[in-house]
Amino acid sequence: MRSATWSLLPLTLLASIAEGTHHIVTVGKGSQLKYDPENVVAAAGDTVEYQFFAKKHSVVQSSFTEPCVPSKDGFFSGFTPNDSPDVAAPTIFTITVNDTKPIWFYCSQTNGDHCQKGMVGSINAPPQGNTLEKFKENAAKAPTPSKSPPDLLPVGGVRKLRVDVGLDGKLVFTPNNITELPRTIVEFSFNPKNHTVTQSSFDKPCQPLDKGFSSGFIPTTVSPSGVLFDIVIENDKPIWFYCGQVNGDHCQKGMVGSINAPAQGNTLEEFIKNAAATLGTKSTIPPEAPLLGTITVNGTIIPTFNGNQLPDTTLTKDPSGNPAVPSPGAAVPPQMSGMAGGGQPANYNWAPSMSDDATSFLQLLQYFDDILLHILFKGYDNLNGGSWAGVYPKSIVDTIGSMTAQSLVHRTTATDCLNHYQKPLLGTCSYKLKLDSVDDFLHAVEKLLLLEIGALADVSALLAKSDAWLIPPLVSEVGAKSRMTAVVNMMQNHLAAAAPREVVIPAPLAWSYATQHYVESCPDAIAKMPTKTWPALTATNKVQTPGGGRTTGVTLTWDGSNNNNSDKHWVAWIGPWGGLEFSELGTDGSVAVPASLYGHVWMVVTSKKDVKLQELADVTVAGPEVVWVSQP
Ligand SMILES: *[C@@H]1O[C@H](CO)[C@@H](O)[C@H](O)[C@H]1NC(C)=O
Ligand SMILES: *[C@@H]1O[C@H](CO)[C@@H](O)[C@H](O)[C@H]1NC(C)=O
Ligand SMILES: *[C@@H]1O[C@H](CO)[C@@H](O)[C@H](O)[C@H]1NC(C)=O
Ligand SMILES: *[C@@H]1O[C@H](CO)[C@@H](O)[C@H](O)[C@H]1NC(C)=O
Ligand SMILES: *[C@@H]1O[C@H](CO)[C@@H](O)[C@H](O)[C@H]1NC(C)=O
Repeated sequence: MRSATWSLLPLTLLASIAEGTHHIVTVGKGSQLKYDPENVVAAAGDTVEYQFFAKKHSVVQSSFTEPCVPSKDGFFSGFTPNDSPDVAAPTIFTITVNDTKPIWFYCSQTNGDHCQKGMVGSINAPPQGNTLEKFKENAAKAPTPSKSPPDLLPVGGVRKLRVDVGLDGKLVFTPNNITELPRTIVEFSFNPKNHTVTQSSFDKPCQPLDKGFSSGFIPTTVSPSGVLFDIVIENDKPIWFYCGQVNGDHCQKGMVGSINAPAQGNTLEEFIKNAAATLGTKSTIPPEAPLLGTITVNGTIIPTFNGNQLPDTTLTKDPSGNPAVPSPGAAVPPQMSGMAGGGQPANYNWAPSMSDDATSFLQLLQYFDDILLHILFKGYDNLNGGSWAGVYPKSIVDTIGSMTAQSLVHRTTATDCLNHYQKPLLGTCSYKLKLDSVDDFLHAVEKLLLLEIGALADVSALLAKSDAWLIPPLVSEVGAKSRMTAVVNMMQNHLAAAAPREVVIPAPLAWSYATQHYVESCPDAIAKMPTKTWPALTATNKVQTPGGGRTTGVTLTWDGSNNNNSDKHWVAWIGPWGGLEFSELGTDGSVAVPASLYGHVWMVVTSKKDVKLQELADVTVAGPEVVWVSQP
């Protein structure tokens, strides 16, 4: 659960430059029927904030001639009760001044005829002619009672209530017992520790309400943090909310609140009791954040809090505590589609039927993608706040997250098509993944990407006639996976451009390598694949040019290579554009790397030379394996 990290905080540097001056006008301070200042001189773009004191005042825009009647399309703050004559209500009302024409306003409280008693004010009242003094005289003569807009709802400005979250380290919302008008923004201001504001229901105080609001976790050590979560009150129905922090049972300990709770029956007091009664049950919050509200950090809106990150709160953990890869065939969760930059297509232009070869090859792609997903999930979890946190900058970590999500979409390509033709999906295999370091991780990701690109190219050629509809999805996958290899190459300080080139690897050879290196056991076999893997090749004794710029030779061994018989062996170098080059393997296992090759180069040991790529698997003795030769 590390979804709501400060993924976009550097954006605060881009916080917009404040436009205009912010003026403050107090309303009824010191129990006087007065606005202070009574006239504000404001420029276009300035804002005027009204702060309310005892008793129950309002601000209504009117006209010079009818001071105590709302003007058409004018602003209205709504009535704002406050018992205190000297501490402002937590609710404020702010208007934006658009031009320098005079603006007239009054308090529409009829109990005591505030307007007629002189509780009026102005913005940019002229010093001559229609002055504020004349306006006051008009108000004194105005008929009673004065009027408010009929619906009594705020309009023409922003009415906002500030709620402090966890003030002074306490597990409370201040205030927690909110009575507010519809259209009011409730703004939650976060303080230390690591709280949420999440909507719930009266009956289930510590569980999220379906389609309710949620801020996500806001961890901070700064008070106030500068992080605000704004929601808008839509109607006058009661709203219940809580903090979803499980460490310390915040909700159960009373960190809950209500908006417009009834004074009898389902009161806030009862809600607090309901929450306390769930002690022993863990609170939960929705995995996505923010929901139905806006997060701003020191003035900058953070559009999506999870950004490009794997929302691992949605994912169950496997027995070793890593986020579990969703099972094959499951739809891609919407957040993952977002991370991937797009989800599954609506359709694949399916043909009326699919060949058996295509079935088998789609199962093979599911197989590759599943291995890749297990590697990426674990690696991304480690990079994104886990044991490898800080190794790479955020942009790279985000890209790995996006690769992870894309690979999930790719696996869905295979399973969508298999499902469409009612063909069996493969059961999930168990894997042996050695991912002790970032290097292990990068090597594994890179090898799988190269193998899968190679196999995709091979399969595309094989299926081009029988299942032409499948070619566009396969080619798209090659494109996406090639982009991924570029990222991995950059992370390894290799040129991302031409090396590695996308070579064609016969699918059975690619399958063999992946199976040999990453798979413990699988419940199902893939029809078109061999029953056994070829022995793994080990490349040692790399001969390099001085300075290590280029690998010119290697020594190859494999299980069974030490029988010292007189069999002749060749090494087939799998080149770009479907090319192959053969070199004779020395009796000591040494072989020279052809001078034309560079980048990551795949090879197999064969019993025959000069066969076609399509026949390579038939003569393979061991491999494949990859060696890094040189930068292009
Ligand atoms: C905030 O709390 C959540 C839930 O307990 C936790 O998963 C997350 O790691 C915490 N964040 C920080 C930075 O402590
Ligand atoms: C200023 O213009 C905005 C946008 O049209 C409007 O919402 C607002 O009510 C105007 N302010 C005043 C004081 O009329
Ligand atoms: C917001 O600004 C304050 C004051 O500059 C700073 O202390 C705080 O860390 C900032 N908050 C965030 C989340 O960056
Ligand atoms: C909440 O407000 C209502 C109405 O003002 C009041 O009756 C109730 O006692 C308050 N509850 C708490 C817990 O403050
Ligand atoms: C292989 O056989 C030759 C002669 O038959 C012998 O000289 C050589 O030492 C053997 N090599 C190994 C590795 O057994």
